[in-house]
Amino acid sequence: MSYTAAIVTVSDKGSVGEREDKSGPALRAALEGLYDVRETIVVPDEVDIIAQTIRHLIDIKSIDLILTTGGTGVTKRDVTPEATKLVLERELPGFAEIMRMESYKITPTAMLSRAISGTRKGSLVINLPGSPKAAVECLGFVLKAIPHTLDKLQGDTTDCAALRENQ
Ligand code: MTE
Repeated sequence: MSYTAAIVTVSDKGSVGEREDKSGPALRAALEGLYDVRETIVVPDEVDIIAQTIRHLIDIKSIDLILTTGGTGVTKRDVTPEATKLVLERELPGFAEIMRMESYKITPTAMLSRAISGTRKGSLVINLPGSPKAAVECLGFVLKAIPHTLDKLQGDTTDCAALRENQ
């Protein structure tokens, strides 16, 4: 458990206590024993607040992995990808691509998620959809690639081919 993580639930209703946040706890459970989950936060669907929260978690708290859940769809209030884009230095599309592709095998509505993924400094940010089931499913599709991504982001120069041979 060398890497730290934070979970940001994006939900207008959750942020004012009108709806219980089930996705944050579900993701925390999915990370149990794998990551040191330092923060679980619920924020409203506001671009500035979402962006500021992610920035703070990376720049001030030095969290390695930031998972957001919710706000990736197509309703007027869904702005998580736009907020995430503001803080990313580099997009890493593979995570979101694989999540959509694998999710489509489960449900055709998978293509409604506009989730993005990318990096800022040595941290990885991944948008996940909002329902607990969808969020945990999507995380499951990419979980195995996260440690190697963080290793590389944080300066590991090991030959990737050698690593694959050991897998
Ligand atoms: N992905 C998976 N794996 N399973 C799901 O049930 N639901 C989809 C999609 N991705 C779903 C999924 C639906 S119905 C929507 S609207 C979008 O995620 C966006 O969800 P969000 O706005 O809650 O982020």
